[in-house]
Amino acid sequence: MNYTYLDCLALFGVGGAHPGGLQLTKKLLSREKINEQTIVLDVGCGTGQTSAYMAEKYNCKIIGLDNNEMMLEKARKRFQSKNHPIETRLGRVESLPFGEESFDLVLSESVAAFTDVSKTLPEFRRVLKADGVLLAIEMVLEEQLPEEELFPITEFYGVPLILTEPQWRSFFQKAGFQEINIEKFHLTAHEPDLDNTTDFSLSEQLDEELYNILDQHEQFSKRYQNVLSFRVFRCCV
Ligand SMILES: C[S@@+](CC[C@H](N)C(=O)[O-])C[C@H]1O[C@@H](n2cnc3c(N)ncnc32)[C@H](O)[C@@H]1O
Repeated sequence: MNYTYLDCLALFGVGGAHPGGLQLTKKLLSREKINEQTIVLDVGCGTGQTSAYMAEKYNCKIIGLDNNEMMLEKARKRFQSKNHPIETRLGRVESLPFGEESFDLVLSESVAAFTDVSKTLPEFRRVLKADGVLLAIEMVLEEQLPEEELFPITEFYGVPLILTEPQWRSFFQKAGFQEINIEKFHLTAHEPDLDNTTDFSLSEQLDEELYNILDQHEQFSKRYQNVLSFRVFRCCV
């Protein structure tokens, strides 16, 4: 069986599978105006760690969408166990199953980078209300790499491209976003932060190969720590 990196995240049921994890998410959300009336779309919600946090903290209306049924199943279990009325939808971000101007906030935590952004970003724009906000935490390439070095990375993560910050900006602009705010965060190793840890919802059968994929991810992260990074994009229409 040939597993992809995303299969691996789904089988281990990794919650908070984005740079900065729940700690960064909490910080970003605390700057937004979110209340019971806010309608949120958590695209590529994975096992739903962020959605569950938002339901608890803000009591807002949330829909979690993912194209991976296993991820969604694990998200539903999480929501049921906490009695959160969060809706889940199987779907692809390149063609969102929602009407125009449906959401106040769209969250994309390490999701758009895995897709064809020329299709995905206009979809985020389409489903956002006129005064809505897109928050995206996405991988960036800090410096160009020769093709022979870049190819094994894109192949491993299953991403079509790894964009630089100016390339991301240009795609957001083409998608119709007018205000594009880009922030760089430095992640530092702190004391263990027990409130914000990555969590796991393991599947019963975990093939040896999956541990190799985690290992490979660690190796790429170390080797390319100055080349592969991330940004927070806050975009308004
Ligand atoms: C790196 S994980 C991040 C999960 C979650 N946002 C988090 O931070 O824990 C990427 C997620 O995006 C989902 N995904 C990838 N491509 C997608 C697509 N085209 N449409 C919808 N979801 C997608 C994957 O199934 C996975 O759950």
